[in-house]
Order: sequence, then structure tokens, then C-alpha cells
Amino acid sequence: MISENRTALVTGSAGFIGYFLCKRLLADGFRVIGVDAMTDYYDVALKQRRQSMIMQSQNFRAVNDRIETPGLLMDLFAKEKPDVVVHLAAQAGVRHSIDFPRSYLESNLVGTFELLEAMRAFPPAHSLLASTSSAYGANTEMPYIENVRADHQMSFYAATKKATESMTHSYAHLFDLPSTMFRFFTVYGPWGRPDMALFKFTRAILAGQPIDVYNYGDMSRDFTYVGDLVNAVRLLIDTPPVRPKDGVVLAGDSLSPVAPFRVVNIGNSEPVQLTAFIEAIEEATGMKAEQKRMPMQAGDVPATWADTSLLTSLTGYAPRTSVTEGVKHFVNWYRDYFNV
Ligand SMILES: NC(=O)c1ccc[n+]([C@@H]2O[C@H](COP(=O)([O-])OP(=O)(O)OC[C@H]3O[C@@H](n4cnc5c(N)ncnc54)[C@H](O)[C@@H]3O)[C@@H](O)[C@H]2O)c1
Repeated sequence: MISENRTALVTGSAGFIGYFLCKRLLADGFRVIGVDAMTDYYDVALKQRRQSMIMQSQNFRAVNDRIETPGLLMDLFAKEKPDVVVHLAAQAGVRHSIDFPRSYLESNLVGTFELLEAMRAFPPAHSLLASTSSAYGANTEMPYIENVRADHQMSFYAATKKATESMTHSYAHLFDLPSTMFRFFTVYGPWGRPDMALFKFTRAILAGQPIDVYNYGDMSRDFTYVGDLVNAVRLLIDTPPVRPKDGVVLAGDSLSPVAPFRVVNIGNSEPVQLTAFIEAIEEATGMKAEQKRMPMQAGDVPATWADTSLLTSLTGYAPRTSVTEGVKHFVNWYRDYFNV
């Protein structure tokens, strides 16, 4: 392996994806500064456990504060001058944004603004920021392609994420900041989020309780295993976009004609029916789910499916983990963590 002397700043480092990414960057020899406010959107103990594991590395430094705090990121950037920035901190969750929109405004919009200002003052070689498949909103043509317009977001969460894409594009254009926006597709795996279906279903099934199955089970998702996703992010770190000469962009590339900026789907490119996903949990737990069929939830979409040809052509990436295998890893972790 090439020896590293780069510093990476990761926001959302105690989160589900942030934890795995920090572990990977530390293993690759990066110095990592992790910023995470340990918000109480879900069980803080889970975040503390994740953080305590990465803190075992001497090359990791934790800053537990809110990214939208004026001056916090500016001071940190002035001191640490990170080479790479991966921005994962956000108020996540589609449904929660219906009742608590202000927290999305603060963490996702103001927080990203503070980050952009810090990067303007102390430009990293490459910044990579998390957007979401929810940005595709009401689009029904599948698979989702980065170059197709995505203007009809269905939740305020998705709207804030789409807005961060535009905000980042303007800074990339004006201040020459190479920036990649990821559109992540339903990420799952060990240490996953308690607000997401896999966690909720596993908890209920193991407790002998019914599970809520929305849209009467007629849903599909492009489930992405966290280990595969981290591999994709790691490859993209070393693939910074370059402002195109004379605005000429290759067919199939989402590169901006006027900025070193690109949007990239990270998914499995293999949508799975919710019912098949539940069967994988039943197989992994050895228990049958009692399903409560419910109507579609507000703000949600019935299907997602990533076209990942841009990611593959940029990095050679190919996902390795099947849903059966990935769900097994999660269930094994869950039983071990909660001792059930
Ligand atoms: N998990 C998925 O399926 C998925 C899908 C699409 C997009 N994303 C995006 O990927 C990123 C990471 O998601 P995750 O699943 O790891 O979520 P997560 O909630 O586990 O991690 C986010 C972390 O950010 C921290 N945070 C939130 N607001 C903050 C603030 N204002 N200041 C500092 N820290 C703050 C939280 O404490 C948390 O630890 C998010 O931006 C999310 O929107 C995730």
C-alpha cells in the first residue's frame, strides 16, 4: 500500500457510514479529524460505541460539536488544513423531516454553508459530500441516472439534500473547489441506523412483534451494503473532478460544464423487493415475520434503482455483497450487540 500523509476531515464520523469510512481511512494511513455532534435523533450510545472504537487509533481526533456553530469549522480548517473532506453529517430520515423540518434546515443547509465557507478559506484537494437517492423524488424512469433532471423532491429531507448539491456547485464554480456529491442508495449493514427498516424489522421479529410493511409490500429498494459503499467512497476520493476545458463533457458523465463538480450514484444497481428483503431477515433470524400491511407513507417513494455505470467507469467499482449475505452480517451484529 502507498504510504499516506494526508489528513481527512470527516463530518458525521460517529454516524453509521462515518464510522466505517473513518475506520477505512485510518487503516489506509490517513490522519482523520472526525466532527460529530452526537445528536439524539437515535440512540446516542450507539454513536458513542462507534466513536470509542475509532478513537483507539492515535491518528484519529474527535471534535464533538455542531457543524453549524459559527466559526467552528473555520477554526478547525485553519488549524488542520485537511487535504480531503468527506461531509456526512446531516439530519437524515425522510419521515422525521415531516415533523421536524427545522433540524434539517440547521444541520443540512446552515451546516453545509459553514463547511463551504471553511473550504473557500482553506481549500482541500477534494471534497466529497453526501446527497441521497431521495433527490430523484418523483422521477419514475428507472434506473436513476445522474444526468436526468431531478427537480421534484418529495420530502423536505430530500429538498435540503438537493439544495446542498446546488450550493456546493456554486462554490466549486466560483472558488475552484473540486467537489463530488454522492447520491447514496439505502445503505445497510452492521452498526446500522435504528430508524431504518432493517433495524426495525430485525428488532420486531426477534421480539415476536409485528412489522409495519408500507405500500402493502409493493416497494423496492436498491440496497447498498456499507462495506461496498465505503469501497466506492474510497475510490472516489482519489478521483477528483477537473473543470472541463471549453465546457466539453463526455457522454454519460455528470461533470458540470462550468465547475470541477460531479454527482455520482452509489448503489448496488440491483433493486430488491421489500418482501424479498424481509425473507432474507427471516432466513437470517430463523423466525417468521408477522406482517402488518399498511398504505404508503407520506414523503416516501415506491422504488429506487441506481444506474452505477458512471461510478464504474470512473473507478472500476463493482459491489460484492448480496442482500442475503449483508442481512446476515447485520443480524449477527444485532444479536451480539444486544445479546438477544
Ligand atoms: N444511510 C443511508 O441509507 C443514506 C442514504 C442516503 C444518504 N445518506 C446520507 O449519508 C450521510 C450519513 O448517513 P448515516 O446513515 O451514516 O446517518 P447517521 O445519522 O448515522 O450519521 C450522521 C451523523 O451526523 C451527526 N450530525 C447530525 N447533525 C449534525 C450537526 N449539525 N453537526 C454535527 N454532526 C451532526 C449525527 O450525530 C450522526 O452521527 C447523511 O448525510 C445522510 O443523509 C444516508
